[in-house]
Amino acid sequence: MITTSAPAKIILCGEHAVVYNRPAIALPLGDVRAYAVATPTAPGTGLHFVAPDLDETWSFSTHPQHPLSELAATVLEHLGAVAPDLSITLRSDIPIAGGMGSGAAIGAALVRAVAQALGHNLPPAEVSALVYASEGRYHGTPSGIDNTVIAYEQAIWFQRRPDAPPLIAPIHVATPLTLVIGDTGVRSATHRPVGALRKRWQADPPTYEARFDAVADVATQARAALAAGDLAALGQIMNTNQTLLEELGISSPELDRLVQAARQAGALGAKLSGAGWGGVMIALAHSNQCQQVADALHAAGASRVRVALVPACAGEI
Ligand code: MEV
Repeated sequence: MITTSAPAKIILCGEHAVVYNRPAIALPLGDVRAYAVATPTAPGTGLHFVAPDLDETWSFSTHPQHPLSELAATVLEHLGAVAPDLSITLRSDIPIAGGMGSGAAIGAALVRAVAQALGHNLPPAEVSALVYASEGRYHGTPSGIDNTVIAYEQAIWFQRRPDAPPLIAPIHVATPLTLVIGDTGVRSATHRPVGALRKRWQADPPTYEARFDAVADVATQARAALAAGDLAALGQIMNTNQTLLEELGISSPELDRLVQAARQAGALGAKLSGAGWGGVMIALAHSNQCQQVADALHAAGASRVRVALVPACAGEI
């Protein structure tokens, strides 16, 4: 039996603008994970999937169009292998369509399980590339930041480039961060806000390009604040990013309410994280204030509140 896993992620700043080649910063959440458990089955039984969270069971051969069958097919093609006799159970602690990268994490766990069952331990770059192909099927124009941060399990600076592979750099985090993550409980598939923003950008490129540039400035400032361990500055930068996301039409009344509640309870800064229109927001807090912020988020209607400790890191991939 083989168990593989991959973490959830949050985007600290730069979501959406990252689709338009601006830089963004993403962090893995090692304590919130998706898992794949691969159990060998009798010869000739083929490849089967069980997803108890989704109440789904399917076979690779009879449901080749299932997105996760397609991902498994991509892995098999990559390895030059045929489908093994295997039952793969997929389980996840990451809310689906909640802005925390559940699709990419399930994908990464699945890629690792299929590869390991065939005797291959794939490096993060290969896991990331395989998952990226499947992300494209879900939401059209993924930037690649989710599959990258999840496959590398490393705080990253990420920027797409038009004629080159994305720039992926480790981020220096000088001081540990305490993030309080509030879930609106509203599920919103990534492709919806991404598609709506694309229409607005197509209708008025100069306005939206200027807003994306402003988000890029925010990401650059956040990188410097992380390297300096300047949490007060980082909180202000997160607030600025939230204002820009509101101008991009990505927030929602539920997200706004949680962001306000966190700030009033003493958070250093707060913003939505990920695709928006639902899903989660993040608040940066001093560790002695995070309980107060968590209580305020519950009182403001959060369906779930998590506290995540992001360790300091020198920034080596
Ligand atoms: C989703 O986690 C982040 C977005 O920027 C989409 C993407 O980068 O593909 C909204």
